Amino acid sequence: MTSTFKAAITERYVRTPTDYKIATLPVPAPPSDTQVEIAVHAVSLNPIDYKRAEGMIAIPLPEPFPLRLGYDVSGTVTKIGSAVTRFKVGQPVYGRVEQASVGTIAEIVVANESSLSPKPDNISHKEAASIPLAGLTALQVFEKAGLKEGQSVFVSAGCGGVGQLALPLAKHHFKAKDIITTVSTKKIDKAKALGATRVVDYTKEDVHKVLENTADVVFDTTGDSSSYMIAKPNAHAVSIALLASGDAIDGFRDDSIAIAKRLVGAVGWFVTRGFRAKGVSCEFLLMNPDGRALETVFNPLLTTGKIKPMIASVYPFTDDGVRKAFAELRDGHATGKIIIQVRDD
Ligand SMILES: NC(=O)c1ccc[n+]([C@@H]2O[C@H](COP(=O)([O-])OP(=O)(O)OC[C@H]3O[C@@H](n4cnc5c(N)ncnc54)[C@H](OP(=O)(O)O)[C@@H]3O)[C@@H](O)[C@H]2O)c1
Repeated sequence: MTSTFKAAITERYVRTPTDYKIATLPVPAPPSDTQVEIAVHAVSLNPIDYKRAEGMIAIPLPEPFPLRLGYDVSGTVTKIGSAVTRFKVGQPVYGRVEQASVGTIAEIVVANESSLSPKPDNISHKEAASIPLAGLTALQVFEKAGLKEGQSVFVSAGCGGVGQLALPLAKHHFKAKDIITTVSTKKIDKAKALGATRVVDYTKEDVHKVLENTADVVFDTTGDSSSYMIAKPNAHAVSIALLASGDAIDGFRDDSIAIAKRLVGAVGWFVTRGFRAKGVSCEFLLMNPDGRALETVFNPLLTTGKIKPMIASVYPFTDDGVRKAFAELRDGHATGKIIIQVRDD
């Protein structure tokens, strides 16, 4: 039995992915009653991974070093806790692990049963790994905004990691009528194929002007404080990139520092003034892991091909692979999700 395993880490807050590396660490403790140990096959990257590594969220989320990277995972169950009921050894699973289990870019991860879902048979581990964090974010945003059948919804960056899942989710799960998005020129056809009914090239058109007053729900993925212009009066806006109030950092840290909260609150109040002036509610959403929602909402959409995982690139689980994968992510122009393959599918 091996006593060590390999995992992607940083030893301190670093400015660029060139300082990320794969380290050899002592194997994690065996799963507790409600946990599952997974042999990792594939991981997808999310901007939160490099934001943590760069210390950008160190105040609301202070963490020990070595800082382990990665939230999304797809792999095979190797051990289960005594109270685990939904999974058995040998089963393929996927999910976005909870904060205490962060560090999925690794050979092994131990995570709560509640964060995981069975993997649909018709998709690979690479495809499954591309879904959880981004997909659950889109689902939770639309639920928070109260998106209803027949409504019009605006999603910025429709071919980004989150946007490319938000578009088919709006179409097939929420049954929105008008699905409006922004992309750069070469991604227009892809956005249409994902379900967008109206695509605006943000590199050529004045998005706020051409889309003024068109959406019942605005889903801001880019931190655009002028997206209130796209909302109809009395619409709902939810942002995953604009901290709209001090409460936004509660989800990071239970004892959110009062002064940081006040500072975020003041900045949030200022940047969202346009929404308030128009009568548009604007809230920040911090996503939560939810294995049941993956199973009940995403698995049927994946099995029927209504959601087709969109993979931008696949990198190997090596120092160089991890660094190049994060360099592509930080560049901010990926079409879909960036994957690190840890084991063969
Ligand atoms: N609060 C939460 O719980 C939560 C959850 C998930 C993500 N997030 C945050 O949400 C943001 C987006 O995440 P992501 O995973 O979707 O990122 P991503 O995949 O890195 O986004 C890249 C995409 O954004 C597009 N883009 C960049 N600027 C744009 C603009 N001005 N207008 C339209 N499209 C633009 C790029 O397309 P082009 O090449 O066409 O420019 C590219 O396709 C990040 O800041 C992330 O940290 C927050």
